[in-house]
Amino acid sequence: MEKEKQEYEKISRLDNIKVLISEKELEDKISLLGEQISRDYEGRIPVLISVLKGSFIFIADLCRKISIPVVFDFMAVSSYGNSMASSGVVRITKDLDYNIHGRDILIVEDIIDSGRTLHYLVKNIEARNPGSLEICALLDKDVKGKIKNTIRYKGFDIPDEFVIGYGLDYAENYRNLPYIGYIENA
Ligand code: IMP
Ligand code: MG
Repeated sequence: MEKEKQEYEKISRLDNIKVLISEKELEDKISLLGEQISRDYEGRIPVLISVLKGSFIFIADLCRKISIPVVFDFMAVSSYGNSMASSGVVRITKDLDYNIHGRDILIVEDIIDSGRTLHYLVKNIEARNPGSLEICALLDKDVKGKIKNTIRYKGFDIPDEFVIGYGLDYAENYRNLPYIGYIENA
């Protein structure tokens, strides 16, 4: 119990968290992305593939800015364990429910860091022969030695900082912050 209380006190302190991207900035950019996707996929029904858990808030807001019919599927991958450093190991912990052969696929990702996770996902999904495959990522981190992926729909380029909030976690915490922030002196 004492441990839980200490943990609660640490996590609930928000005074050392700085806002990198505000709620308003997120909303405005996501509206634009939604409009763009609606225009580009007019007349088709794309499958939005959300990469859990980090993208759950982004996809929820994004899909409500899309004015054409879409369907959803979810995939969960784990690449980090509980630390802030990239291990480079990608593991599928939940696979798609549906056969996506011939479908128009839009992968919806929260953040691209080294690019390893996305690179792995793209290869994995390409192997299932979709009709088309594009990527939508909210954040693209400026890191050295990044694996290049073609991002059709991008929210923000961000500096090489560990960010939290709006779905993104640090050891599973902070996902419910309504903005993108970073922990000062982390
Ligand atoms: P990558 O494989 O190095 O591109 O890492 C991608 C995944 O790592 C993302 O989908 C996130 O789940 C996680 N990640 C990378 N950077 C951050 C961050 O700054 N905050 C929280 N999670 C992150
Ligand atoms: Mg993720």
